[in-house]
Amino acid sequence: MNVLIVGSGGREHALVKMLKKSEHVSKIFCVPGNAGIAQDAVCESISVENIRELIAFARKNKIDFTVVGPEIPLVMGIVDEFETNGMPIFGPGQQAAELEGSKAFAKHIMREYDIPTADFQVFTDYEKARRFVYSQGGPLVVKADGLAAGKGALVCDTTDQALEAVKMILRDAVFGQAGRKVLIEEKLEGQEVSMLGISDGENLIYLSPSQDHKRVFDKDRGPNTGGMGAYAPAPQLDEELMDEVRYSIMERTIKGMALEGRPFKGVLYAGLMLTSSGPKVLEYNCRFGDPESQAVLPLVESDLIEVMMAARDGQLDEYEFKNSAKSAVCIVIASGGYPGEYEKGKPILGLNQTFGNDVMVFHAGTQKQGNEIVTAGGRVLGVTAVADELKQAINRVYEAVGKITFDGAYYRKDIAAKALKFLNG
Ligand code: AMP
Ligand code: GLY
Repeated sequence: MNVLIVGSGGREHALVKMLKKSEHVSKIFCVPGNAGIAQDAVCESISVENIRELIAFARKNKIDFTVVGPEIPLVMGIVDEFETNGMPIFGPGQQAAELEGSKAFAKHIMREYDIPTADFQVFTDYEKARRFVYSQGGPLVVKADGLAAGKGALVCDTTDQALEAVKMILRDAVFGQAGRKVLIEEKLEGQEVSMLGISDGENLIYLSPSQDHKRVFDKDRGPNTGGMGAYAPAPQLDEELMDEVRYSIMERTIKGMALEGRPFKGVLYAGLMLTSSGPKVLEYNCRFGDPESQAVLPLVESDLIEVMMAARDGQLDEYEFKNSAKSAVCIVIASGGYPGEYEKGKPILGLNQTFGNDVMVFHAGTQKQGNEIVTAGGRVLGVTAVADELKQAINRVYEAVGKITFDGAYYRKDIAAKALKFLNG
């Protein structure tokens, strides 16, 4: 089979590397890809939002199956367009992708199908929203309804901060149309865990639960980023909690979406808060997480393309899916200054060495310049190590990360520390 991956980050590089292992896959294409992906797949520079051109590319290259990484093309309806053209593709259709595309819609599903989440209200009117903030007082989370590149949720510790957030979103429209509606919700406390499942619209299989690290600095300090590292499985989600997440969150969501006439096929990603009164949904994503996928995909023992094809064909009930019992840790190496301003074009040193079979280097913001690979984004690389025990994986991954460098390279030193603390009591 010829397979096309849409996207250009560490997640897409991980997908490419996993699909390369499949006996069903003969050739992999990635659009637009990056310098590292180009070593494993045929890349072409087409925007992920240019669906018409993607269809033409897939046709020209006789693509048998397409996998979409980022949310924007999914929310734009890439899956419907490919399928209408008779081209098999993995991911939710536009109606189902609204689970990520609209937080108000996601909350509607959660309320309707009794899925635990933070209490909330939705507003379009600035004065009403302000009055609600005053009436609540204390910490609140204020969110733009639509896609805002992961920046649309403002965690506010005081009433003044919440008022400012409402003003920014509803009156100053800093997120444009995505902020036409605002959600104001209760602030939850606890550890965050990402639960990714793959659904065929009815059945679900589960990837290893993982934990992302959103803040840029150690000890979860500093501004939010796209994610500075991840590990899996997250031991905080023990068997009992896993069951609760499966039954009261993941299965209810899939059932609810089917009942709404929007069957969800693809990756259902529930961002969870493990609160003292059980796991609650912070948000849904309709795709593989990044960097989570760089930790959970290397743990998949089944053939990923078979799983994705079974999901697309509504046949996951017959599929025996298997995750490895090992642990994986992914460290993101970022450009100094990220998520604020940073410089690009820095030559990356240390990429051409053999790290061993237990270490994988995924490229995110990289570019070829002459014979060199240089930095081209905020998150530059994701380095993952897999080992029998979490502690070993941590040691192995930091050993490898220490051998790669570029001017201004920055990474967190405490990825998976919360898991070790949990395991050691
Ligand atoms: P979201 O875009 O909804 O995932 O929110 C982004 C981040 O904001 C989450 O990963 C959490 O760290 C934080 N967050 C969102 N909702 C809440 C909430 N209700 N309580 C506490 N933190 C939240
Ligand atoms: N790691 C967060 C996300 O993929 O949205």
